Amino acid sequence: MRCRFALLPLAAGLAIGGSSLPAHAQEGGGPVPRSPGLPYAPKNLPDRIVLTPGADPAREMAVAFRTDTAQAASQAQLAVSVDGPTLEEKAVLITGKAMPVDSSYGPALYHQVRFTGLAPDTAYAYRVKGAAGWSEWYQFRTAAAEAKPFRFLYLGDVQNGILTYASRVIRQAFHANGDIRLVVHAGDLVAQRDDLDHDDEWGEWNQAGGYNYAIVPQVPAAGNHEYVDVPKRDGSESRKLGPYWPAQFALPSNGAAPVRATTYYTDYQGVRFIVLDGTAAIDLGSMKAQTDWLDATLASSKANWNVVLFHQPVFTCARPNDTKEIKAAWKPVFEKRKVDLVLQGHDHCYSRLTGEAGREASASARADGSVQGPVYLVSVTGSKMYRLNDRAPNQPDKIAEATELYQIVDVEPKRLRFRTYSASGKLYDGFNLDRTAGGNRLTEIDEPTLATRTCAGEVGPDGGRCVATGK
Ligand SMILES: [Fe+2]
Repeated sequence: MRCRFALLPLAAGLAIGGSSLPAHAQEGGGPVPRSPGLPYAPKNLPDRIVLTPGADPAREMAVAFRTDTAQAASQAQLAVSVDGPTLEEKAVLITGKAMPVDSSYGPALYHQVRFTGLAPDTAYAYRVKGAAGWSEWYQFRTAAAEAKPFRFLYLGDVQNGILTYASRVIRQAFHANGDIRLVVHAGDLVAQRDDLDHDDEWGEWNQAGGYNYAIVPQVPAAGNHEYVDVPKRDGSESRKLGPYWPAQFALPSNGAAPVRATTYYTDYQGVRFIVLDGTAAIDLGSMKAQTDWLDATLASSKANWNVVLFHQPVFTCARPNDTKEIKAAWKPVFEKRKVDLVLQGHDHCYSRLTGEAGREASASARADGSVQGPVYLVSVTGSKMYRLNDRAPNQPDKIAEATELYQIVDVEPKRLRFRTYSASGKLYDGFNLDRTAGGNRLTEIDEPTLATRTCAGEVGPDGGRCVATGK
């Protein structure tokens, strides 16, 4: 496959930019900025190494990585981990497939290698090959074959200020919370509009997470910004999935038939994670196929917990209206099949919502001992912020504006512990979901949390300017 971005030789980019940000023409518009120093050219050693789970991550994982074109063969070595520096001795060579992607840095190869037939709950190490040699060894653990407590990280839109701002949130999440076993991304990992050259954005995205993305399996949902605009013959615009997504993520092929690149599920130690593609559903005609697949995938789930991940939220915290197509098609399925958590992004604000009737009604239902669910979350990691809408003060249980956040979820057989932290690691929100015979009971945590952060007019919650803009 070839990317449709305009190619510009590296030297030309340097000549244009000098010591300032160079720019080049990109599909769909005028010049866009380049990363200072043009740091993301493919090399003779692998980079952009991202681990992803198989449908059954107790027995299958996959890795995608990038090299220059001198490394034509897609090669990995895999070994059951040992504690001495002898991983090579019992390592096996596994080959995969390479995908060419040409972009502003010139031609590159993205390689994908699948690790199958793995033993559950076992530590493995792997390394991947570039023309100049092997990467370091990366270590991961397969999932247990049965339900077993674990921790995952949920990130909203990384998208803007990916390296400048989102990176500190991602790094704080990993630094402060040990043994994260999975990362779920609610879409818009990058902007792919006019912020920055697309290849530079994917370079920033990989640099922001660094080796964590190579040792912890990543579960990404595609947002509208994973799509690029394409002109139609009649002059109108359509969208298609950008070239980096299928190259960068070796995902399970078990999704809704027309959108296998961006819909899938994975069963991890008692949780079924179901990933949907709101953009393809709303704009590209796959709503019915995805809704049918969602219903069937929930019906067949034997997991203790079902978590659904996608980008455009059912209940919005920034936009004037909820996402009506998704609300009409998917919300009834979530309710019928008793989905536990719905993890979303897109609105660049924070919202935890348990009842459409609003915060007070939800709180009194809890006080009366009613079961609740699903719990709908919207969050944001990167620097773009939207103003809260007029429903936000009363409908969600907790909200935030102009605040970068990450979420840690601890899974147990009968309890989900959900905690939201601010960029600097302060506890912002939290609840426990306890499974009972009748459904889930939600309890607010009794640990102290930060007071609700919103702008007051033009003043932001940190006392400076309000960086949230109206949507
Ligand atoms: Fe976004």
